[in-house]
Amino acid sequence: MKISIGSDHAAFALKEHIAAYLRFKGVEVLDEGTHSEDSVDYPIFAEKVSKDVLEGKADYGILMCGTGLGMSIAANKFKGIYAALCLYPTMAKYARLHNNANVLVMAGRLMGPTLAEETVDTFLSTEFAGARHQRRVDEIKEFENR
Ligand code: RB5
Repeated sequence: MKISIGSDHAAFALKEHIAAYLRFKGVEVLDEGTHSEDSVDYPIFAEKVSKDVLEGKADYGILMCGTGLGMSIAANKFKGIYAALCLYPTMAKYARLHNNANVLVMAGRLMGPTLAEETVDTFLSTEFAGARHQRRVDEIKEFENR
């Protein structure tokens, strides 16, 4: 599995932690930055990770900013990106199971490393349930063509 990961300065430490955690587990990680705690603009990283997913360079994306809100708003502007802000594992479970999200968004200023690890593990190990959820996801996809 290959993951594209990105954050702004507010979630730099958590992004570094999760990138190392995933690599330790044998997951291939494409780190799109940021690479320090210097202030940066989160939309830049939302675009890099979203494009990696859309171009097939990664199976899933993981984005983080202080609250996760800006990254969610920015990533969901890209057609084909379904970014879900998940603050704990149960949200990650349903983001995959019901919503078929392809980008996990987390909050660097609200989540500790262990909670983030568990949230990532749940997101990456849960399959989309399909059936009635496929119809609902298709209804969302249809918005993209209007
Ligand atoms: C940066 O201060 C902060 O605004 C950003 O990390 C994020 O929380 C925006 O939604």
